[in-house]
Amino acid sequence: MFSSLQQLEERLRASGYIADSITTTTVFLSTRLHKTLLLEGPAGSGKTQLAYAVADAANTTVERLQCYEGINEEKAIGKFDESLQRLCVELRAKSGDVDWASVRTELHSQDFFNAGPLMRALLCEKPCVLLVDELDKVDQAFEAMLLELLSEWRLSIPKLGTVEARSIPFVVLTSNEERRIGDPLRRRSFYLRVEHPTAEREAEIVALRTPDSSPEFHAGLAGLAKALRGWSLEKAPSVSEILDLADALKILGHDQVTPELRDVLLPLMAKTEADRKKLLLRDGFASLIYDAQQYTREALRSAA
Ligand SMILES: Nc1ncnc2c1ncn2[C@@H]1O[C@H](COP(=O)(O)OP(=O)(O)O)[C@@H](O)[C@H]1O
Ligand SMILES: [Mg+2]
Repeated sequence: MFSSLQQLEERLRASGYIADSITTTTVFLSTRLHKTLLLEGPAGSGKTQLAYAVADAANTTVERLQCYEGINEEKAIGKFDESLQRLCVELRAKSGDVDWASVRTELHSQDFFNAGPLMRALLCEKPCVLLVDELDKVDQAFEAMLLELLSEWRLSIPKLGTVEARSIPFVVLTSNEERRIGDPLRRRSFYLRVEHPTAEREAEIVALRTPDSSPEFHAGLAGLAKALRGWSLEKAPSVSEILDLADALKILGHDQVTPELRDVLLPLMAKTEADRKKLLLRDGFASLIYDAQQYTREALRSAA
């Protein structure tokens, strides 16, 4: 997919994804060695986005299987389109002389099969990115089915038969760690922790979102993010929430977070009652801003 580490790095950045060198190297090695990439870490830290950025960088498509509790194989692999089959039978019946054996074969061909993301990934002529998103939401049986697919690259469907892969996709599994992913899947994957970014990297991410603002604005938000995450909140803000905050500040016409903005910005920064109370404590917000300023200065220094 990529000819060099440097090429991957440049293309990820061009796709709007700021990755650290461990991430870039792990992605590069996974594509080279045809390993599955398992991304684990808090929600909103950029796992899903990384899969899209890799696809964009490789100039290919994403087949995404969004997992949820109770997801079944039909959703993931696909199923026959019964109404289309019925329509076909009715039309044939009207046309008179029918060879029912061949109609039967036709009805169980790919033409009448609504392929789900797993099947579509196998049918791609050119390797795509197969994103199995939030795999921690499925049960063990589903995980076992996936494991079989990842080792054999073929799917056996009753009546349709066995479908062999036309190309081997680059597989990205993500997990928010609600349930532990089993060891067999871990064994065949490279494991990448996707944590909240460093202040310096977060400033770059904010800069991509609000390119017209100053470096001080970008670093200011990164510093605030770091301060908030050090505040032992029940729900620490993710990158995506910091980006919301950046957008909100722009809309309100401010270029930094000041103590006076506390009440207006609280709904964007504290997402549980306990966290709200914490930031509303006397001096709570002011000392948060103080911490944020320290981190901002550090981020600006290391960027210089
Ligand atoms: N490294 C990054 N570079 C650029 N944008 C990022 C990065 N990490 C997170 N984001 C932003 O945060 C948003 C949420 O990330 P997402 O991939 O949905 O998180 P996750 O899948 O881990 O819950 C993305 O849409 C993107 O705007
Ligand atoms: Mg996600």
